Amino acid sequence: MNSHIIIDNKIKNFNKKIRASSDKSISIRSILLASQAVGVTKITNLLESEDVLNALKIIKKLGIKYKKNQKTYKIFGYGLNGFNLKNNLTVNAGNSGTLARLILGLLVKSKFKVKLIGDKSLSKRDFSRVIKPLKLFGANIKSEKNLLPVEILGTDYLRPILYDENIGSAQVKSCLILAALNTPGVTVINSKVSRNHTELMLKSLKYPISIKKKKNFDIITVKGLSQFKAFDYDVPGDISSAAFFIVLTLLSKKSKIVIENVNVNKSRLGVITILNRMGARIKLKNKKKYKGEVIANIHVSSKKNLKSINCPSNLNSSAIDEFLIIFLVAARARGKSKFKDLGEMNKKESKRLDLSVKFLKLIGIKVERFKNDINIYGNPNLTLSGNYEIKNYLKDHRIFFLSCIAALTLGGKWKINDKDSINTSNPSFLKTLKTIGAKFN
Ligand code: S3P
Repeated sequence: MNSHIIIDNKIKNFNKKIRASSDKSISIRSILLASQAVGVTKITNLLESEDVLNALKIIKKLGIKYKKNQKTYKIFGYGLNGFNLKNNLTVNAGNSGTLARLILGLLVKSKFKVKLIGDKSLSKRDFSRVIKPLKLFGANIKSEKNLLPVEILGTDYLRPILYDENIGSAQVKSCLILAALNTPGVTVINSKVSRNHTELMLKSLKYPISIKKKKNFDIITVKGLSQFKAFDYDVPGDISSAAFFIVLTLLSKKSKIVIENVNVNKSRLGVITILNRMGARIKLKNKKKYKGEVIANIHVSSKKNLKSINCPSNLNSSAIDEFLIIFLVAARARGKSKFKDLGEMNKKESKRLDLSVKFLKLIGIKVERFKNDINIYGNPNLTLSGNYEIKNYLKDHRIFFLSCIAALTLGGKWKINDKDSINTSNPSFLKTLKTIGAKFN
């Protein structure tokens, strides 16, 4: 199978309007909450990527029916803990850390044992961050070294917990909120700020959840066992997918792009804040509210004199999936950029902090690494002419996207392997690149 692409041309100047692919975090959450709602939920613009399709497969295996009718996914829920389980089920979350962590939250009351597995990348990721608090709820969980496979057997004797979530992980926070839905009493999560789609979706469903801000923490209070009705949800665009097109435009000559209908929730907006502080003039226009989320069109123009940044670590969580591509901008900015406390990057689909250092060195950029901090010495005149091959052994979709943007903006002849990884989060990535004028084979 031809699973690589060759790029040996920079992209020519462009002026385009595109739509970003639908938001992955929201797609997965809408499916999982629909599986706990009473009645038929209708979801439009669901992201049809592997991570999301795996969420559909998992709820189906757990006894929840769904149907696709034209562009609408209908999910038939039976309310909280409405799964129809059989003994010894195995469910596969594929590449998705989000799906794997969140589904465990919904299984705290399962009558039968469910075994959770995933692909090679997910099987290297640590599950202690959810196993530990789920055990406090009373769930029985088995796993060797906190890795997959994880076996969970629920209990009828769940108890609400009071938990400090200090990582700033939306996956952990959301897993615990979902566990709290099925638990009698009031669960309180003192959570370092991270993306808040789960909370907003539940609020829009009038679920009894409250959030109090306290510095860089959210105190989230969830009252368990309140049934909620099925809902309609129209999934907006994903800023994490849009980020690659934003940087493509910034680093190209005399180009402009408008990315329509993107979710610009503040908890996801780190990439825009950081790039604007580096001298970009990215604008958000036509803002509108949708079920607590904020949707806007993102306007970007090429920018010549980008400057370095001393990036405050309180922006880390709101840009956690975007640092790979932000580092490429730092590589082309004037001066030394500093990024701190990015250990979480190494806990993603691949060790992204390690790979960033390798990648930046490959393209001739001086980098200093101190544990979880990284300094990047930018070169505004950086252009490439050699041969580059990217082998992405854990098939990390975002390493593939980054490599394409580097090739299209810096030059050189690139062989980028594992093309199929785009299906994880943005199956139309290459098609969209083509409509903008990129050439590759
Ligand atoms: C996600 C949360 C983030 C992010 C991931 C999606 C989510 O992970 O990296 O791609 O949808 O909740 P962490 O919660 O581990 O930071």
